[in-house]
Amino acid sequence: MLKVLYKYLNVLFLPLQKLKIMNIEWTEKLSVNNQTIDSEHKSLFDALGMYYKGVQNGASKESLQALLSNLSDYVVTHFNNEERYLLEIGYSDLPKHKEEHRAFTDKVKEFINSYNSGKAPASYEVTHFIMDWIVNHIKREDMRYARYAQGR
Ligand SMILES: [Fe+2]
Ligand SMILES: [Fe+2]
Repeated sequence: MLKVLYKYLNVLFLPLQKLKIMNIEWTEKLSVNNQTIDSEHKSLFDALGMYYKGVQNGASKESLQALLSNLSDYVVTHFNNEERYLLEIGYSDLPKHKEEHRAFTDKVKEFINSYNSGKAPASYEVTHFIMDWIVNHIKREDMRYARYAQGR
């Protein structure tokens, strides 16, 4: 009985725990030593943070759709700018980098379509997924071109 109750409480409070631990913020640790790109990354976190706030506040479907499309537009803009920069500096791993960007853009668009058609809810999980992806991508992939750019 206690076990069941514990499980039930856990399910109830899981969203709250996630809410607490989700800190959508750019930090100096994520700097790629390029002011333009760093500020684009910050804007990416801002756009995600605004969507997340909307989810937390139970914003209307129209608002959440607008926040999501703002986020996805910004993702595309940033990826285009970053890829143009990588082309300029002759980054050798550009095809692989582009492929990562494309796969993520597809996933975000897929989620937006599911959300718009009522198949998927606006959830903390989605926000988590997007944030994890962005953080890991910057740490692993963007940092690689940062090192490349410095060693040129
Ligand atoms: Fe990137
Ligand atoms: Fe980036």
